[in-house]
Amino acid sequence: MSAARACALSELVQDQPLKVVLDDVPICVVLDSAGDVHAIGDTCTHGEVSLSEGFVEDDTVECWAHGSRFSLRTGAALNLPAYEPVPVYVVQIDGDDVLIDPAVTKAVA
Ligand code: FES
Repeated sequence: MSAARACALSELVQDQPLKVVLDDVPICVVLDSAGDVHAIGDTCTHGEVSLSEGFVEDDTVECWAHGSRFSLRTGAALNLPAYEPVPVYVVQIDGDDVLIDPAVTKAVA
């Protein structure tokens, strides 16, 4: 599958994660306070918890269950108990469309 429309840009509310499912892949889409749109794997690597139900601060999202924060830029788990990263997806903006390819993850350091 190639990049598909995940949502409308105008649908995104700053710092409020939106869960989308593309090709059975749950993805957490976030418009951060800097105006950047991010897309990371929606499932916390510590448990079956949706990161879209968590809290955004700057360029991180915090899992509500046990407080691990994940970088929206690198997917890295920034504090325990989660320690494995979530995938980061490439986001393309085309007019008001937010496009994401669920099969392509960003190579991040
Ligand atoms: S399930 Fe996310 S930190 Fe535990």
